[in-house]
Amino acid sequence: MTQIFAHRGYSALFAENTMGAFIEAEKAGADGLELDVQLTKDGEIVVIHDEKVDRTTTGKGFVKDFLYKEIRKFNANKNGLKKEAIPSLAEVLEWLKTNKLICNIELKNGLIPYEGMEEKVIKLVRKYGLSDRIIISSFNHYSIVQSYRLAPEIETAPLFIEGIYMPWIYSQAIRAKGIHPKHSSMSDNIFINTMQNGIAVRPYTVNKDADMHRFFNINCTAFITDDPVKALRIRKQYEKRP
Ligand code: G3P
Ligand code: CA
Repeated sequence: MTQIFAHRGYSALFAENTMGAFIEAEKAGADGLELDVQLTKDGEIVVIHDEKVDRTTTGKGFVKDFLYKEIRKFNANKNGLKKEAIPSLAEVLEWLKTNKLICNIELKNGLIPYEGMEEKVIKLVRKYGLSDRIIISSFNHYSIVQSYRLAPEIETAPLFIEGIYMPWIYSQAIRAKGIHPKHSSMSDNIFINTMQNGIAVRPYTVNKDADMHRFFNINCTAFITDDPVKALRIRKQYEKRP
């Protein structure tokens, strides 16, 4: 059955990439989470989508220019009632030990080439003993290869915006066990062929009913959605099928 990954947590209803959004995704019954990581000035891995804190928090400026203790003062739930700090990856992994969720960590090192990001993330994943429940993804495919070299036991998955020719061949070449394509970038046939070649397919960001039906119908490995509750409701129709 197609797994449901909550994009930046249950971000349709809760502030993206916050502990609140992750906890609500788990409570809702999602199979996994997707989250984004950047590095602070002092090298702490923090969970935030943009290179700057401006859009999602009460602060202003680049993540890379703040110390961890400084960035923690900003509110990442600025439209909500309760203040939420930008989570550290360590905080999320600590919490993941209390449940069974799969966690897709997206390395946001396409614009800023954070030195040592792969090593830092892998060190933390190993420290918490979560290697078998983590998928490392990135639009930076050099980083995907680097992650595989450092930690062949952790699954990797390149992200794609555009379709590519025979993605299973490319995945095998870079030793990735999955691909995370934009949902509209490739046809059903390409996705089915990729899975038949042993490569997991987890498209993003699947929010419309029709698109969810599309991926349940082809028995896609998983999809990444802002609304895990809607996805779970639609999946029920498929679970009843013989
Ligand atoms: O991991 C899938 C998706 O999150 C990639 O795009 O911009 O939402 O991080 P973005
Ligand atoms: Ca992401």
